[in-house]
Amino acid sequence: MQKVTLRVKRFDGKEESFQDYTVEYGEITTVLEALIQVQSEIDPSLSFRAQCRAAICGTCGVRINGEYKLACKTKIKDVEKEGVVLLEPMANMKVIKDLVVDHDEFLKKLKNVKAWFVPKEPFEKVYPEDLKKFERETDCILCGLCYGTCPAFEQDKLFGGPINYVKIYRFWKDKNDALGDERIVLAKEDHITSCVHCKYCTFVCPKGIPVEQDISQIEFYGRQKGIIEQPQQGFGFGFDFGNF
Ligand code: FES
Repeated sequence: MQKVTLRVKRFDGKEESFQDYTVEYGEITTVLEALIQVQSEIDPSLSFRAQCRAAICGTCGVRINGEYKLACKTKIKDVEKEGVVLLEPMANMKVIKDLVVDHDEFLKKLKNVKAWFVPKEPFEKVYPEDLKKFERETDCILCGLCYGTCPAFEQDKLFGGPINYVKIYRFWKDKNDALGDERIVLAKEDHITSCVHCKYCTFVCPKGIPVEQDISQIEFYGRQKGIIEQPQQGFGFGFDFGNF
């Protein structure tokens, strides 16, 4: 076993500070297991969120050395730098305590884009090739990593967030969804054109969903159909991408 220092950004509702905790780790110890070790053996007041410990529930998203990852899917040995791992809460969400952020904001936003299946009548037969069109998007676990890393919120607070467009894509590609192109209208109203196409959402997605590609496809289709206006002159110039 080796030792690692977890440098955790803490927040008690009023003030922020960094606190170091030294714990032991082995070949397969995850960041989440190290946090649990801290909480159970050193400091029970340390707060973080986790449930499944298996990259399924999507609750343990944090910033690890500045990168957005699931704590339960990240091994200490892969992220420690000179014996230290920096842990901070995700951005673009209100911090409740320490590493716990409020997921309510992006979950509420999903309602704006009707992020649920609306069945068509009559229902068409579904074949494996139909499911392949949105197979990866179905894997979204609503972890919020893409939402946290997204720099588009800095210039547009009304931007829906990458999760919304993954959900729109998933149902738009489903031939048994009754909304069809109304989903593209919803994407436009949800400010999809404020996406700066940095691809950070794609890089951080723990399920390998091509989030930015989905956004580009929705925008391209929307422009072809005249639902979304043509762009002015490029996008993203002069933008600060330092939030990744
Ligand atoms: S604890 Fe469920 S995704 Fe990490």
